[in-house]
Amino acid sequence: MSITVFIIHPSGAEEELIAQEDHTLLESVQSTGLDGFVGECGGNCACGTCHCYIEFAPQGSLLEATNEELQMLDFVASAREDNSRLACQIRITKDMHGMRVAMPERQF
Ligand code: FES
Repeated sequence: MSITVFIIHPSGAEEELIAQEDHTLLESVQSTGLDGFVGECGGNCACGTCHCYIEFAPQGSLLEATNEELQMLDFVASAREDNSRLACQIRITKDMHGMRVAMPERQF
């Protein structure tokens, strides 16, 4: 089963991402060459340049952010919102089919 995730750019443009189960959201985006995520620390929850906003996630599909992720979200370049997450800390599951992820204006 392909897991479709919608990526919404700051311009409002929307792209469809076929995500890989068990990869992180950041890995899935980077493997398809979509623009937007920097991921400077290589997915180690240490830079905040994979910040995104989860506009919609199917119920029960998204685990809570860890304390480490919540602390790193204090340092993101664009406004931190209640739905802010780090794409490197989101592991894709089948339940995430249809998830909508908005990109911030700036990653650094
Ligand atoms: S890639 Fe650095 S915090 Fe996610």
